[in-house]
Amino acid sequence: DGFSAEKLFNQGYSYTYDDVIFLPHYIDFPTDAVSLSTRLTRNIELSIPFVASPMDTVTEDYMAAAMAALGGIGIVHSNCTPSDQGSLVASAKSRRVPIFSSNSAIFRAQDGCIDDVTAFGEYNHLFVTESGSARSKVLGYVAKSDWENLNDKKVKIFDYMRDCSSKVYVPSEYDLGQISGVLEKNELDFVVLESNGEVVDVVLKEDVERIKGYPRLGKGSVGPDGKWMVGAAIGTRESDKQRLEHLVKAGVNVIVLDSSQGNSSYQIEMIKYVKKTYPKLDVIGGNVVTMYQAQNLIQAGVDGLRVGMGSGSICTTQEVCAVGRGQATAVYKVSSIAAQNGVPVIADGGISNSGHIVKALTLGASTVMMGSFLAGSTEAPGTYQYQEGRRVKKYRGMGSLEAMTKGSDARYLGDTAKLKIAQGVVGAVADKGSVLKFIPYTMQAVKQGFQDLGASSLQSGHELLRSRSLRLEVRTGAAQVEGGVHGLVSYEKKSF
Ligand code: XMP
Repeated sequence: DGFSAEKLFNQGYSYTYDDVIFLPHYIDFPTDAVSLSTRLTRNIELSIPFVASPMDTVTEDYMAAAMAALGGIGIVHSNCTPSDQGSLVASAKSRRVPIFSSNSAIFRAQDGCIDDVTAFGEYNHLFVTESGSARSKVLGYVAKSDWENLNDKKVKIFDYMRDCSSKVYVPSEYDLGQISGVLEKNELDFVVLESNGEVVDVVLKEDVERIKGYPRLGKGSVGPDGKWMVGAAIGTRESDKQRLEHLVKAGVNVIVLDSSQGNSSYQIEMIKYVKKTYPKLDVIGGNVVTMYQAQNLIQAGVDGLRVGMGSGSICTTQEVCAVGRGQATAVYKVSSIAAQNGVPVIADGGISNSGHIVKALTLGASTVMMGSFLAGSTEAPGTYQYQEGRRVKKYRGMGSLEAMTKGSDARYLGDTAKLKIAQGVVGAVADKGSVLKFIPYTMQAVKQGFQDLGASSLQSGHELLRSRSLRLEVRTGAAQVEGGVHGLVSYEKKSF
Protein backbone atom coordinates (compact mmCIF):
# COMPACT_ATOMS: atom_id res chain seq x y z
CA ASP A 1 0.00 0.00 0.00
CA GLY A 2 1.34 3.50 -0.75
CA PHE A 3 4.94 4.16 -1.81
CA SER A 4 8.27 3.85 -0.06
CA ALA A 5 10.09 7.18 0.34
CA GLU A 6 12.78 5.88 -1.99
CA LYS A 7 10.28 5.37 -4.79
CA LEU A 8 8.22 8.48 -4.12
CA PHE A 9 11.16 10.87 -4.09
CA ASN A 10 12.78 9.48 -7.23
CA GLN A 11 10.14 10.42 -9.76
CA GLY A 12 11.47 13.80 -10.81
CA TYR A 13 9.11 15.93 -8.71
CA SER A 14 10.04 18.40 -6.01
CA TYR A 15 7.68 17.88 -3.09
CA THR A 16 7.09 20.06 -0.11
CA TYR A 17 5.67 18.97 3.26
CA ASP A 18 2.06 19.66 2.30
CA ASP A 19 2.37 17.60 -0.91
CA VAL A 20 3.02 14.35 0.93
CA ILE A 21 1.20 12.39 3.62
CA PHE A 22 2.25 9.35 5.64
CA LEU A 23 0.02 6.32 5.87
CA PRO A 24 -0.58 5.31 9.51
CA HIS A 25 1.40 2.31 10.76
CA TYR A 26 1.07 0.11 13.88
CA ILE A 27 0.90 1.37 17.50
CA ASP A 28 2.20 -0.71 20.40
CA PHE A 29 3.27 1.99 22.90
CA PRO A 30 1.70 5.05 24.58
CA THR A 31 2.36 8.63 23.36
CA ASP A 32 4.49 9.40 26.38
CA ALA A 33 6.83 6.55 25.49
CA VAL A 34 7.93 8.50 22.40
CA SER A 35 11.39 10.00 22.86
CA LEU A 36 12.27 13.05 20.77
CA SER A 37 15.87 13.22 21.97
CA THR A 38 18.25 13.76 19.12
CA ARG A 39 21.54 15.14 17.86
CA LEU A 40 22.09 18.64 16.52
CA THR A 41 25.58 17.80 15.28
CA ARG A 42 28.01 14.90 15.49
CA ASN A 43 28.82 15.82 19.10
CA ILE A 44 25.86 17.77 20.47
CA GLU A 45 22.82 16.03 21.90
CA LEU A 46 19.49 17.74 22.50
CA SER A 47 16.45 16.45 24.35
CA ILE A 48 14.04 18.08 21.89
CA PRO A 49 14.60 18.51 18.14
CA PHE A 50 13.88 22.26 17.95
CA VAL A 51 16.31 24.95 16.82
CA ALA A 52 15.65 28.71 16.66
CA SER A 53 16.85 30.25 13.40
CA PRO A 54 19.66 32.84 13.28
CA MET A 55 17.42 35.71 12.24
CA ASP A 56 17.37 39.13 13.86
CA THR A 57 13.63 38.96 14.53
CA VAL A 58 13.90 35.46 16.04
CA THR A 59 17.03 34.66 18.04
CA GLU A 60 18.84 36.86 20.49
CA ASP A 61 19.65 36.14 24.14
CA TYR A 62 16.11 35.56 25.47
CA MET A 63 15.13 33.16 22.71
CA ALA A 64 18.44 31.28 22.97
CA ALA A 65 18.07 30.89 26.75
CA ALA A 66 14.44 29.79 26.44
CA MET A 67 15.19 27.24 23.71
CA ALA A 68 18.02 25.81 25.82
CA ALA A 69 15.76 25.68 28.89
CA LEU A 70 13.28 23.68 26.81
CA GLY A 71 15.97 21.21 25.73
CA GLY A 72 16.50 22.64 22.22
CA ILE A 73 18.91 25.35 21.10
CA GLY A 74 18.89 28.85 19.64
CA ILE A 75 21.40 30.17 17.10
CA VAL A 76 22.13 33.84 17.71
CA HIS A 77 22.03 35.89 14.47
CA SER A 78 25.01 37.82 13.14
CA ASN A 79 23.28 40.96 11.91
CA CYS A 80 25.13 43.05 14.51
CA THR A 81 28.73 43.81 15.44
CA PRO A 82 30.90 40.87 16.52
CA SER A 83 31.13 42.21 20.06
CA ASP A 84 27.33 42.65 20.30
CA GLN A 85 26.84 39.11 19.05
CA GLY A 86 29.35 37.86 21.63
CA SER A 87 27.45 39.75 24.37
CA LEU A 88 24.17 38.18 23.27
CA VAL A 89 25.72 34.72 23.47
CA ALA A 90 27.22 35.46 26.91
CA SER A 91 23.93 36.90 28.14
CA ALA A 92 21.95 33.84 26.99
CA LYS A 93 24.44 31.54 28.66
CA SER A 94 24.40 33.43 31.94
CA ARG A 95 20.65 33.12 32.56
CA ARG A 96 19.48 30.27 34.73
CA VAL A 97 15.78 31.02 34.62
CA PRO A 98 14.18 31.64 31.28
CA ILE A 99 12.25 34.65 32.51
CA PHE A 100 12.06 37.65 30.35
CA SER A 101 11.20 40.84 32.12
CA SER A 102 14.05 42.83 30.80
CA ASN A 103 13.08 43.85 27.33
CA SER A 104 15.22 46.88 26.65
CA ALA A 105 12.43 49.32 27.52
CA ILE A 106 12.64 48.29 31.11
CA PHE A 107 16.05 49.79 31.72
CA ARG A 108 16.67 53.53 31.76
CA ALA A 109 19.55 55.83 32.55
CA GLN A 110 19.09 58.15 35.54
CA ASP A 111 19.72 61.41 33.70
CA GLY A 112 16.77 60.99 31.35
CA CYS A 113 13.08 61.58 31.87
CA ILE A 114 10.06 59.50 30.90
CA ASP A 115 7.58 61.32 28.72
CA ASP A 116 5.32 58.49 27.69
CA VAL A 117 3.62 55.65 29.52
CA THR A 118 4.68 53.27 26.75
CA ALA A 119 8.17 53.35 28.30
CA PHE A 120 6.83 50.93 30.89
CA GLY A 121 5.68 48.41 28.31
CA GLU A 122 3.54 45.87 30.14
CA TYR A 123 5.27 46.39 33.46
CA ASN A 124 4.69 48.42 36.59
CA HIS A 125 8.36 49.11 37.20
CA LEU A 126 11.16 50.52 35.17
CA PHE A 127 14.71 49.85 36.29
CA VAL A 128 17.45 52.41 36.27
CA THR A 129 20.96 51.26 35.54
CA GLU A 130 24.19 53.12 35.05
CA SER A 131 24.29 52.57 31.30
CA GLY A 132 20.55 52.48 30.69
CA SER A 133 20.62 48.82 29.75
CA ALA A 134 21.22 45.45 31.36
CA ARG A 135 24.73 44.31 32.34
CA SER A 136 25.52 47.45 34.27
CA LYS A 137 25.05 48.60 37.88
CA VAL A 138 21.46 48.97 39.14
CA LEU A 139 20.86 52.41 40.60
CA GLY A 140 17.18 52.20 41.49
CA TYR A 141 13.75 51.86 39.99
CA VAL A 142 10.74 53.94 39.00
CA ALA A 143 7.30 52.73 40.01
CA LYS A 144 4.69 53.39 37.31
CA SER A 145 2.36 54.86 39.96
CA ASP A 146 5.04 57.39 40.99
CA TRP A 147 5.44 58.48 37.38
CA GLU A 148 1.67 58.75 36.93
CA ASN A 149 1.49 61.05 39.97
CA LEU A 150 4.10 63.44 38.59
CA ASN A 151 2.65 66.79 37.57
CA ASP A 152 5.62 67.63 35.44
CA LYS A 153 6.67 64.73 33.27
CA LYS A 154 9.92 66.49 32.47
CA VAL A 155 11.35 65.70 35.92
CA LYS A 156 14.58 63.70 35.67
CA ILE A 157 14.38 60.08 36.71
CA PHE A 158 17.18 60.71 39.20
CA ASP A 159 14.90 63.00 41.24
CA TYR A 160 12.18 60.52 41.99
CA MET A 161 13.53 57.02 41.44
CA ARG A 162 13.43 54.71 44.43
CA ASP A 163 16.30 52.77 45.91
CA CYS A 164 16.30 49.02 45.59
CA SER A 165 16.65 47.53 49.03
CA SER A 166 19.42 45.00 49.51
CA LYS A 167 16.73 42.34 49.88
CA VAL A 168 15.89 42.48 46.21
CA TYR A 169 19.29 41.35 44.94
CA VAL A 170 19.79 37.68 44.27
CA PRO A 171 22.63 35.86 42.51
CA SER A 172 21.97 35.28 38.82
CA GLU A 173 22.43 31.54 39.34
CA TYR A 174 19.19 31.29 41.33
CA ASP A 175 16.59 29.01 39.79
CA LEU A 176 12.86 29.62 39.61
CA GLY A 177 12.14 27.92 42.95
CA GLN A 178 14.79 29.93 44.78
CA ILE A 179 13.60 33.20 43.26
CA SER A 180 10.03 32.39 44.14
CA GLY A 181 11.11 31.71 47.74
CA VAL A 182 12.85 35.09 48.05
CA LEU A 183 9.84 36.92 46.56
CA GLU A 184 7.45 35.28 49.00
CA LYS A 185 9.61 35.54 52.10
CA ASN A 186 10.26 39.25 51.61
CA GLU A 187 6.85 40.06 50.12
CA LEU A 188 8.53 41.62 47.09
CA ASP A 189 7.14 42.52 43.67
CA PHE A 190 10.45 41.80 41.96
CA VAL A 191 14.04 40.72 42.45
CA VAL A 192 17.12 41.85 40.63
CA LEU A 193 19.41 39.10 39.35
CA GLU A 194 22.96 40.24 39.74
CA SER A 195 26.35 38.91 38.95
CA ASN A 196 29.54 40.72 40.04
CA GLY A 197 27.58 43.85 40.99
CA GLU A 198 25.90 44.10 37.59
CA VAL A 199 22.24 43.55 36.81
CA VAL A 200 21.70 40.54 34.60
CA ASP A 201 17.93 40.67 34.63
CA VAL A 202 14.94 41.68 36.67
CA VAL A 203 12.36 39.10 37.58
CA LEU A 204 8.87 40.27 38.46
CA LYS A 205 6.44 38.35 40.67
CA GLU A 206 3.89 38.33 37.85
CA ASP A 207 6.42 36.65 35.54
CA VAL A 208 7.15 33.93 38.08
CA GLU A 209 3.41 33.28 38.46
CA ARG A 210 3.02 33.21 34.68
CA ILE A 211 5.80 30.68 34.20
CA LYS A 212 4.57 28.47 37.03
CA GLY A 213 1.39 27.99 34.99
CA TYR A 214 3.33 26.62 31.99
CA PRO A 215 4.02 22.93 31.37
CA ARG A 216 6.97 21.69 33.41
CA LEU A 217 10.31 22.04 31.71
CA GLY A 218 12.23 18.82 31.00
CA LYS A 219 15.96 18.46 30.70
CA GLY A 220 17.52 21.68 29.47
CA SER A 221 20.45 21.83 27.06
CA VAL A 222 23.49 22.43 29.22
CA GLY A 223 27.00 22.56 27.78
CA PRO A 224 30.25 21.22 29.27
CA ASP A 225 30.69 24.60 31.03
CA GLY A 226 27.50 24.00 33.04
CA LYS A 227 25.72 26.87 31.26
CA TRP A 228 23.02 26.89 28.60
CA MET A 229 24.13 25.60 25.24
CA VAL A 230 24.00 28.44 22.68
CA GLY A 231 24.90 28.57 18.99
CA ALA A 232 25.77 31.50 16.76
CA ALA A 233 25.88 32.23 13.05
CA ILE A 234 28.80 33.63 11.10
CA GLY A 235 29.48 34.26 7.43
CA THR A 236 32.41 33.19 5.29
CA ARG A 237 34.30 36.46 4.83
CA GLU A 238 37.79 37.03 6.19
CA SER A 239 36.31 39.35 8.85
CA ASP A 240 34.16 36.50 10.14
CA LYS A 241 37.28 34.91 11.61
CA GLN A 242 37.43 37.81 14.06
CA ARG A 243 33.71 37.45 14.77
CA LEU A 244 34.34 33.81 15.52
CA GLU A 245 36.99 34.76 18.06
CA HIS A 246 34.48 36.95 19.94
CA LEU A 247 31.96 34.13 19.94
CA VAL A 248 34.45 31.56 21.20
CA LYS A 249 35.43 33.94 24.02
CA ALA A 250 31.73 34.26 24.89
CA GLY A 251 31.53 30.47 25.20
CA VAL A 252 29.58 29.62 22.05
CA ASN A 253 28.83 25.89 21.78
CA VAL A 254 28.25 25.52 18.04
CA ILE A 255 28.79 27.61 14.92
CA VAL A 256 26.44 27.83 11.96
CA LEU A 257 27.88 28.99 8.65
CA ASP A 258 25.02 31.10 7.40
CA SER A 259 24.61 31.03 3.65
CA SER A 260 21.64 30.44 1.34
CA GLN A 261 23.86 28.41 -1.05
CA GLY A 262 26.43 26.70 1.10
CA ASN A 263 28.24 24.69 -1.54
CA SER A 264 30.95 27.24 -2.21
CA SER A 265 34.72 27.43 -2.01
CA TYR A 266 34.28 30.19 0.62
CA GLN A 267 32.32 27.93 2.90
CA ILE A 268 34.59 24.94 2.41
CA GLU A 269 37.59 27.08 3.36
CA MET A 270 35.77 28.39 6.42
CA ILE A 271 34.78 24.89 7.56
CA LYS A 272 38.41 23.84 7.36
CA TYR A 273 39.54 27.00 9.17
CA VAL A 274 37.08 26.51 12.06
CA LYS A 275 37.94 22.84 12.44
CA LYS A 276 41.66 23.56 12.40
CA THR A 277 41.56 26.58 14.73
CA TYR A 278 38.98 25.26 17.21
CA PRO A 279 38.99 21.47 16.87
CA LYS A 280 36.48 21.03 19.71
CA LEU A 281 33.90 23.43 18.23
CA ASP A 282 31.20 21.81 16.11
CA VAL A 283 30.39 23.56 12.84
CA ILE A 284 27.15 23.34 10.89
CA GLY A 285 27.35 23.95 7.14
CA GLY A 286 24.74 24.85 4.57
CA ASN A 287 22.32 25.59 3.32
CA VAL A 288 22.15 22.67 0.93
CA VAL A 289 19.30 20.87 -0.83
CA THR A 290 21.10 18.31 -3.01
CA MET A 291 23.22 15.24 -2.38
CA TYR A 292 26.04 16.74 -4.43
CA GLN A 293 26.15 19.91 -2.31
CA ALA A 294 25.95 17.87 0.89
CA GLN A 295 28.77 15.58 -0.14
CA ASN A 296 31.16 18.50 -0.66
CA LEU A 297 30.49 19.93 2.79
CA ILE A 298 30.69 16.52 4.45
CA GLN A 299 34.07 16.00 2.82
CA ALA A 300 35.20 19.38 4.14
CA GLY A 301 34.40 18.16 7.66
CA VAL A 302 31.03 19.61 8.76
CA ASP A 303 29.44 18.28 11.94
CA GLY A 304 25.88 19.08 10.84
CA LEU A 305 24.04 20.12 7.68
CA ARG A 306 21.34 22.75 7.37
CA VAL A 307 18.86 21.92 4.62
CA GLY A 308 16.49 24.24 2.75
CA MET A 309 16.54 26.77 -0.02
CA GLY A 310 13.66 29.09 -0.61
CA SER A 311 11.20 27.16 1.55
CA GLY A 312 11.10 29.69 4.37
CA SER A 313 7.94 31.70 4.93
CA ILE A 314 9.69 35.00 4.13
CA CYS A 315 11.89 33.65 1.32
CA THR A 316 11.80 34.75 -2.28
CA THR A 317 15.01 32.98 -3.38
CA GLN A 318 13.18 30.50 -5.62
CA GLU A 319 11.33 33.33 -7.36
CA VAL A 320 14.29 35.66 -7.66
CA CYS A 321 17.07 33.18 -8.49
CA ALA A 322 15.19 30.16 -9.91
CA VAL A 323 17.02 27.76 -7.61
CA GLY A 324 15.92 25.73 -4.63
CA ARG A 325 13.96 22.58 -3.95
CA GLY A 326 10.69 21.45 -2.38
CA GLN A 327 11.54 20.99 1.28
CA ALA A 328 10.30 17.41 1.73
CA THR A 329 12.43 16.23 -1.22
CA ALA A 330 15.44 18.25 -0.04
CA VAL A 331 15.28 16.84 3.49
CA TYR A 332 14.87 13.26 2.28
CA LYS A 333 17.66 13.46 -0.30
CA VAL A 334 20.24 15.22 1.86
CA SER A 335 19.42 13.08 4.91
CA SER A 336 19.99 9.87 3.01
CA ILE A 337 23.59 10.80 2.21
CA ALA A 338 24.24 12.56 5.54
CA ALA A 339 23.09 9.50 7.50
CA GLN A 340 25.68 7.34 5.72
CA ASN A 341 28.33 9.70 7.06
CA GLY A 342 26.93 10.13 10.58
CA VAL A 343 26.12 13.81 10.00
CA PRO A 344 22.81 15.04 11.49
CA VAL A 345 20.51 17.14 9.31
CA ILE A 346 18.62 20.27 10.32
CA ALA A 347 15.43 20.78 8.28
CA ASP A 348 15.41 24.56 7.95
CA GLY A 349 12.34 26.59 6.98
CA GLY A 350 8.80 25.95 5.88
CA ILE A 351 7.55 24.68 9.25
CA SER A 352 4.11 26.07 9.98
CA ASN A 353 2.48 23.27 11.97
CA SER A 354 3.35 20.21 14.04
CA GLY A 355 2.55 17.93 11.07
CA HIS A 356 5.37 19.57 9.11
CA ILE A 357 7.71 18.78 12.02
CA VAL A 358 6.66 15.12 12.03
CA LYS A 359 7.26 14.94 8.28
CA ALA A 360 10.68 16.63 8.47
CA LEU A 361 11.88 14.41 11.30
CA THR A 362 10.58 11.21 9.74
CA LEU A 363 12.04 12.00 6.34
CA GLY A 364 15.50 11.95 7.88
CA ALA A 365 16.12 15.25 9.70
CA SER A 366 17.38 15.15 13.27
CA THR A 367 16.14 18.63 14.15
CA VAL A 368 13.93 21.33 12.65
CA MET A 369 14.99 24.97 12.47
CA MET A 370 12.20 27.49 12.71
CA GLY A 371 11.77 31.18 12.02
CA SER A 372 8.15 32.19 11.66
CA PHE A 373 6.95 29.47 14.06
CA LEU A 374 8.89 31.16 16.88
CA ALA A 375 8.63 34.79 15.70
CA GLY A 376 5.97 36.85 17.45
CA SER A 377 6.61 35.04 20.74
CA THR A 378 7.43 36.76 24.02
CA GLU A 379 11.06 35.73 23.61
CA ALA A 380 11.52 36.99 20.03
CA PRO A 381 13.41 40.31 19.72
CA GLY A 382 11.42 43.49 19.18
CA THR A 383 8.34 44.99 20.74
CA TYR A 384 4.71 44.26 20.05
CA GLN A 385 2.71 46.63 17.89
CA TYR A 386 -0.94 46.77 16.96
CA GLN A 387 -2.03 46.16 13.36
CA GLU A 388 -5.76 46.28 12.63
CA GLY A 389 -6.49 45.50 16.26
CA ARG A 390 -4.09 42.54 16.44
CA ARG A 391 -0.96 42.39 18.55
CA VAL A 392 1.94 41.59 16.25
CA LYS A 393 5.73 41.53 16.18
CA LYS A 394 7.89 42.16 13.15
CA TYR A 395 9.31 39.15 11.29
CA ARG A 396 11.64 39.69 8.37
CA GLY A 397 13.78 37.67 6.00
CA MET A 398 17.52 38.11 6.46
CA GLY A 399 17.67 38.67 2.70
CA SER A 400 15.05 41.43 2.81
CA LEU A 401 16.29 44.87 1.83
CA GLU A 402 15.61 46.10 5.35
CA ALA A 403 17.78 43.43 7.00
CA MET A 404 20.52 43.66 4.36
CA THR A 405 20.75 47.40 4.87
CA LYS A 406 21.66 46.55 8.46
CA GLY A 407 24.41 44.22 7.27
CA SER A 408 23.16 40.69 6.57
CA ASP A 409 23.95 40.79 2.85
CA ALA A 410 26.84 38.31 3.20
CA ARG A 411 24.35 35.46 3.51
CA TYR A 412 23.09 36.30 0.05
CA LEU A 413 26.53 36.99 -1.39
CA GLY A 414 25.56 40.63 -1.89
CA ASP A 415 29.10 41.67 -1.08
CA THR A 416 30.30 40.97 -4.60
CA ALA A 417 27.55 42.97 -6.26
CA LYS A 418 27.15 46.71 -6.14
CA LEU A 419 23.38 46.43 -6.48
CA LYS A 420 21.52 44.70 -3.69
CA ILE A 421 18.75 42.33 -4.74
CA ALA A 422 16.27 41.26 -2.07
CA GLN A 423 15.62 37.55 -1.53
CA GLY A 424 13.18 38.00 1.31
CA VAL A 425 10.36 40.13 2.63
CA VAL A 426 9.43 42.01 5.79
CA GLY A 427 6.17 41.20 7.56
CA ALA A 428 4.52 40.78 10.92
CA VAL A 429 3.30 37.74 12.82
CA ALA A 430 0.65 37.50 15.53
CA ASP A 431 1.53 37.40 19.22
CA LYS A 432 1.92 33.74 20.15
CA GLY A 433 2.75 34.08 23.84
CA SER A 434 5.79 32.40 25.35
CA VAL A 435 7.72 29.60 23.65
CA LEU A 436 7.92 28.05 27.13
CA LYS A 437 4.22 27.43 26.80
CA PHE A 438 3.59 26.57 23.17
CA ILE A 439 6.69 24.46 22.45
CA PRO A 440 5.73 21.77 25.02
CA TYR A 441 2.28 21.51 23.37
CA THR A 442 3.88 21.31 19.95
CA MET A 443 6.16 18.52 21.20
CA GLN A 444 3.19 16.57 22.47
CA ALA A 445 1.52 16.87 19.06
CA VAL A 446 4.72 15.65 17.36
CA LYS A 447 4.84 12.67 19.74
CA GLN A 448 1.27 11.77 18.73
CA GLY A 449 2.32 11.86 15.09
CA PHE A 450 5.23 9.53 15.82
CA GLN A 451 2.91 7.19 17.70
CA ASP A 452 0.57 6.99 14.67
CA LEU A 453 3.59 6.04 12.58
CA GLY A 454 4.60 3.36 15.08
CA ALA A 455 7.91 5.11 15.72
CA SER A 456 8.91 5.48 19.37
CA SER A 457 11.96 7.63 18.57
CA LEU A 458 13.51 9.62 15.75
CA GLN A 459 15.93 6.78 15.09
CA SER A 460 13.12 4.26 14.80
CA GLY A 461 11.25 6.64 12.44
CA HIS A 462 14.34 6.88 10.22
CA GLU A 463 14.76 3.10 10.37
CA LEU A 464 11.12 2.46 9.41
CA LEU A 465 11.50 4.84 6.47
CA ARG A 466 14.74 3.28 5.26
CA SER A 467 13.37 -0.26 5.56
CA ARG A 468 10.37 0.82 3.45
CA SER A 469 7.93 -0.06 6.24
CA LEU A 470 6.68 3.51 6.33
CA ARG A 471 4.59 4.32 3.29
CA LEU A 472 3.70 7.68 1.78
CA GLU A 473 1.59 9.16 -0.93
CA VAL A 474 1.35 12.46 -2.74
CA ARG A 475 -1.81 14.40 -1.93
CA THR A 476 -3.78 15.90 -4.79
CA GLY A 477 -4.93 19.50 -4.46
CA ALA A 478 -8.38 18.29 -3.40
CA ALA A 479 -6.86 15.90 -0.82
CA GLN A 480 -4.92 18.80 0.66
CA VAL A 481 -8.10 20.84 0.95
CA GLU A 482 -9.83 17.85 2.53
CA GLY A 483 -6.93 17.44 4.99
CA GLY A 484 -7.44 20.97 6.29
CA VAL A 485 -10.52 22.44 7.96
CA HIS A 486 -13.20 22.88 5.31
CA GLY A 487 -16.92 23.31 4.80
CA LEU A 488 -17.55 25.47 7.87
CA VAL A 489 -18.97 28.97 7.76
CA SER A 490 -16.66 30.01 10.58
CA TYR A 491 -14.46 28.37 13.18
CA GLU A 492 -11.89 29.13 15.80
CA LYS A 493 -8.52 27.42 15.44
CA LYS A 494 -7.15 26.59 18.85
CA SER A 495 -5.05 23.53 19.60
CA PHE A 496 -4.37 24.00 23.32
P1 XMP B 1 10.50 29.86 8.27
O1 XMP B 1 9.62 29.20 7.26
O2 XMP B 1 10.69 29.05 9.51
O3 XMP B 1 11.93 29.96 7.56
O4 XMP B 1 10.05 31.24 8.57
C1 XMP B 1 13.07 30.40 8.22
C2 XMP B 1 14.29 30.17 7.36
O5 XMP B 1 14.22 30.94 6.15
C3 XMP B 1 15.54 31.24 5.71
N1 XMP B 1 15.61 32.67 5.46
C4 XMP B 1 15.50 33.23 4.25
N2 XMP B 1 15.42 32.68 3.01
N3 XMP B 1 15.30 34.85 2.06
C5 XMP B 1 15.33 33.50 1.91
O6 XMP B 1 15.27 33.02 0.78
C6 XMP B 1 15.38 35.48 3.26
O7 XMP B 1 15.33 36.69 3.36
C7 XMP B 1 15.50 34.61 4.41
N4 XMP B 1 15.64 34.87 5.75
C8 XMP B 1 15.69 33.66 6.34
C9 XMP B 1 16.49 30.80 6.78
O8 XMP B 1 17.05 29.58 6.35
C10 XMP B 1 15.58 30.62 7.99
O9 XMP B 1 16.08 29.71 8.93
